[in-house]
Amino acid sequence: MSHPTQVQPRDPASRVKIFDTTLRDGEQSPGISLNRQEKLEIAHQLARLGVDIIEAGFPITSPGDFEAVQAIAREVQGPVICGLARTSKQDIEAAWNAVRDAERPRIHTFIATSDIHIERKLQTTREDVIGQARAAVAQARGYTEDVEFSPEDGSRSNIEFMAEVIQVALDEGATTINVPDTVGYTMPIEYGRMFEELYRLVPDLARVTVSVHCHDDLGLAVANSLAGLEAGCRQVECAINGIGERAGNAALEEVVMLLHTREPRLGLWTGVETTEIARTSRLVSRLTGYPVQPNKAIVGRNAFAHEAGIHQDGVLKERTTYEIMDATTVGLSSNSIVLGKHSGRHALSKALEEMGFAIDGQALNVAFKRFKEIADRKKQVTAMDLEALVTDELRADIAGYSLEWFEVESSSRRSPHARVGVTLPDGNSVTGSFVGDGPIDALFQAINAATATAPVLSEFTIGAVTEGQDALGEVSVVVELDGSTGAGQSVSTDIIDAAARAYVRALSVALTRSQASGAVGLPETA
Ligand code: KIV
Ligand code: ZN
Repeated sequence: MSHPTQVQPRDPASRVKIFDTTLRDGEQSPGISLNRQEKLEIAHQLARLGVDIIEAGFPITSPGDFEAVQAIAREVQGPVICGLARTSKQDIEAAWNAVRDAERPRIHTFIATSDIHIERKLQTTREDVIGQARAAVAQARGYTEDVEFSPEDGSRSNIEFMAEVIQVALDEGATTINVPDTVGYTMPIEYGRMFEELYRLVPDLARVTVSVHCHDDLGLAVANSLAGLEAGCRQVECAINGIGERAGNAALEEVVMLLHTREPRLGLWTGVETTEIARTSRLVSRLTGYPVQPNKAIVGRNAFAHEAGIHQDGVLKERTTYEIMDATTVGLSSNSIVLGKHSGRHALSKALEEMGFAIDGQALNVAFKRFKEIADRKKQVTAMDLEALVTDELRADIAGYSLEWFEVESSSRRSPHARVGVTLPDGNSVTGSFVGDGPIDALFQAINAATATAPVLSEFTIGAVTEGQDALGEVSVVVELDGSTGAGQSVSTDIIDAAARAYVRALSVALTRSQASGAVGLPETA
């Protein structure tokens, strides 16, 4: 006699909350500077992805960040919206004012507990740290019931002292305790044991959510996060594509797919809609200007590619011989949307709607114009092309320089020559020209000449959005200008055009950042 298969209900105690910090810790990566519109777009996509908490920014750091967090709090439904704050009154007030209109607002406050940070960075005493933590959590709890506290540099802190600070935060009403490996120094066995010890020293931790936050300096961020979860933590702080300070944070897609793929062994699960992973990764990569390395786990171009004949043969016979995950689970399914040069505005708007972009009015007009330009040069415009185009349009309005026109002459008999026209931040139009070693060198130097800047080019990558000779080219550029980095990316059927736009954007981001850090003096951040 056969019995119908019974689906076991999942244990709510094994549910892991995904706390996404792409827009806060991720945005602290060198060169990344997202404007309000870009942050909103990413936040909407994170909500579609089904993360539990979005750390939308660090509101005290700049009026722009404050406004972006506020806009996300007002518009994005679903996840908890969180703002970061140090322990000062102004920080916490700014965080609260930024998130207060969210359906479910959270304030996340932190102070370092390691001796090296207390003595050298904060130049204070352990006693003072306890006082600051107490006052900060109490103030935050006066605003909202959802308060997270982090002892910064927790993994290098004296555990008894850190336990004392955590107890104070709990007494004042903190509802989540996050213990970061701020400098990416710990190892899985140490990090796991640290949590076991903390649960022993602070029995009250059993009644709140305990969280991991790991940096990837030694490439252990995901392994350390897993060790924390196995020790009882139920929140992971992570970022799309693993972006973040220095070597970055634990990559969200890796944590989620680890828990998904090994659920039978680990018994842990998340609420993430895994099929939205690939798209979220592409969006973040494009808007931040940070390309994803080809062999990156889960979202790299080669993550599901098989080169060796033996592997290809095996996969053709049975996929699971060499694949532990199905590409469609992370959203890498082929999309059937194809438009061409005869497709009209209505077809474009329908296709975009099917892909989840709500675009109308002037934005649709601009997207349609761009689509027509591309359809004239490319036979088939696919969903991947449309996604690249629309994302490119979203980031068009950064303050700074803008490219008006360019000419590049390239020949095997003469040195390449480039001329450009650029609008300066004050609205004046200028031109520049240069004879360079190659066409891209000539182009970039011509832009430098026009803008009277001398940035250092630290990264330059060209990729193709899809396969085929007429594919859209995608260029990423990172420059350093007066000590500030700026990243830019652009797409076009003409890679010289994409390179020029990406370069000008990177230059604008670097300029904005160097002006902001000179004018405001950013607070020390983790
Ligand atoms: O790495 C860190 O310690 C942080 C804290 C602010 C949580 O980012
Ligand atoms: Zn961090």
